[in-house]
Amino acid sequence: MNKVLIVDHPIILDKISRLRDRRTPVKEFRNLAGEISMLMVYEALKDVKLKNTSVNTPLARAKGKMVAQNIVFVTILRAGLGMLDGALMIYPDAQISHIGIYRNEETLSPVRYYFKMPRGSKNSLVVLLDPMLATGGSAVEAVNMLKSKGARNIVFLCLISAKAGLDYFLSKHPDVKVITAAVDSKLNNRGYIVPGLGDAGDRMFGT
Ligand code: PRP
Ligand code: URA
Repeated sequence: MNKVLIVDHPIILDKISRLRDRRTPVKEFRNLAGEISMLMVYEALKDVKLKNTSVNTPLARAKGKMVAQNIVFVTILRAGLGMLDGALMIYPDAQISHIGIYRNEETLSPVRYYFKMPRGSKNSLVVLLDPMLATGGSAVEAVNMLKSKGARNIVFLCLISAKAGLDYFLSKHPDVKVITAAVDSKLNNRGYIVPGLGDAGDRMFGT
């Protein structure tokens, strides 16, 4: 069963409003996307497997915990790249994978053009990063690709989602947890989320 987590931390909500604002310049947009991603990845890694450890402090032996699971951050190009630095600030030891998908502007169907995944990700915690879930086609296709390489433990993290796309994604991948900071009500006739934030890739990279 899917779990959808809509994060409602006040600082994330504040930053999402700034990210949506059409007056926000490219540099600030990138910074905000990175900061929000960092905070959301912190939440996404809440269920990572741990093992017991102990270390010597300057005074005594201290029992503790360490991450015991491989973590892979997967970006959906292009706009997912803007979430990677924030993710790595939370867990710099993660492996990184890239999936190239763009939407055909006429049909809105996802078109694959690149996929590189580390071997042996079956037991890894795979965190898929894309700021936008609109029709849901790109995210569904990306998870199909990850599963085809054996990934089983996948969390999808997006900044803004559309209700219809979220429902579509949940119907196709009921085993994948979704973490999002906003669920918007509509898509326009070009498949853009309304109110959304516009074209995430263009705003991130100034194109
Ligand atoms: C955007 C976004 C998602 C996709 C979401 O990418 O980053 O990958 O659209 O739309 P969907 O849910 O309807 O599939 P885009 O296709 O614009 O590619 P780009 O990041 O390379 O510009
Ligand atoms: N891709 C975007 O970047 N923005 C949208 O609103 C929809 C898809």
